[in-house]
Amino acid sequence: MTDSKKKYMLMHKNISVAEMELDEASCAISAIGQVLDERHVPVGIPVKKAMIDRSALNEWWKGRAIPASRAGIKSALVELNLTTTQKLLEKCLGLSLSDQYWICPLDSTISWSQVNFFDNMFSDDVGNILFGQGSSSEHMSLMSPDNTSDGWLKKKWKIIDGKRCLMKGGSGATQQEPYNEVLASRIMERLGIPHVKYSLLVENDYPYSVCEDFITPQTDLISAWYIMQTIKKQNHASVYQHYLNCCEAQGIPGIRESLDRMMVLDYLIVNEDRHQNNFGVVRNAETLVYMGAAPLFDSGTALWFDKPTAMIGTKAKISCKPFKSSHEEQIKLVSSFDWLDLNSLSGIEEELRELVRGSLFIDEARCDALCKALKDRVKMLSGIVNSPHNNYPVDNFRVIKRESSVIQLPR
Ligand SMILES: Nc1ncnc2c1ncn2[C@@H]1O[C@H](COP(=O)(O)OP(=O)(O)OP(=O)(O)O)[C@@H](O)[C@H]1O
Ligand SMILES: [Mg+2]
Repeated sequence: MTDSKKKYMLMHKNISVAEMELDEASCAISAIGQVLDERHVPVGIPVKKAMIDRSALNEWWKGRAIPASRAGIKSALVELNLTTTQKLLEKCLGLSLSDQYWICPLDSTISWSQVNFFDNMFSDDVGNILFGQGSSSEHMSLMSPDNTSDGWLKKKWKIIDGKRCLMKGGSGATQQEPYNEVLASRIMERLGIPHVKYSLLVENDYPYSVCEDFITPQTDLISAWYIMQTIKKQNHASVYQHYLNCCEAQGIPGIRESLDRMMVLDYLIVNEDRHQNNFGVVRNAETLVYMGAAPLFDSGTALWFDKPTAMIGTKAKISCKPFKSSHEEQIKLVSSFDWLDLNSLSGIEEELRELVRGSLFIDEARCDALCKALKDRVKMLSGIVNSPHNNYPVDNFRVIKRESSVIQLPR
């Protein structure tokens, strides 16, 4: 081993998973030793003959770093005098506030209880630099869960009244995401959908959403993306069916019901970015028993957040994820609306009006358009729920193609 490589133990809380070597120049995993505890290998990473697939583990490791697409990351890196966000990963031992994985230098005796961010204080330095509020000093500490935060919006972890909270900004001229995030949690509150509660914080006229960490020292968040890597997808299976199959094989309860709720929320708020890292499951980090779907989080990319006011309410350039490319198609995957009481959303648009009151970014015309569009979405969903054709989920149909028409028959 040369000087440019450093040896670590990949750890899951107090469990040693495998020895690994990090290359200083590329920040990549250059070698992995034999697996010591296969059950604790990160979910979705293949293991063959007691060896972890290095390329897959590298992707997983790099994916723990702040993405290169994060707003303002270039200037933050300049300020930190670092070339890539992966360098920050090593500085905080890969520790995160969303799961219990970390790396322990082989020549060190530190334990998880001494370093984890759930029980130990952490530095604000990186967060402040990411928010454009800090400047590097000699005493700067890079020990921060911000080094392992995902997503493209500006964000930082903050300890508020002893609780670990994620503070997240908005983007563009409307800075609408934080308002959407709060509205989405109010909608879910009314509909009884398990969710992460977001509240609004305004600092120097800019809106931020704040939510508590929903992961504890006893749990791991695992994204749908990694759950979907646990089984090879059959060619004929839809992404929706594949996810259900993977969850069933892993014994994760309540997934169809939670997806019903997610798709209903996303239809109502016209969410455009429910990608496979924006939902997932929670498991016990010690027993590895799956508890079920994660409460819904990250619902800010909704309600025409990046569109001009004149486009609000239209279908122009609206995308939909993760199962279908339009909300009209995706809502057909909902297996049951029996739980849904849309009457409970009566007057929800007034909550939105109240939320954006005084905002420098959402003017009256935009607010009026958003309120009307939201009300219309509730009506449209009501039309779908009450339509006589909603009895069968689309995936339960076999499709017979005839020249110009498509006929769907229940299986
Ligand atoms: N309350 C929370 N508790 C624990 N982990 C969280 C919480 N909120 C978010 N995370 C983790 O942080 C990641 C980034 O957060 P989030 O998805 O809200 O950011 P984003 O910038 O809006 O992401 P995107 O790029 O998808 O728009 C999530 O994918 C999740 O892993
Ligand atoms: Mg996200």
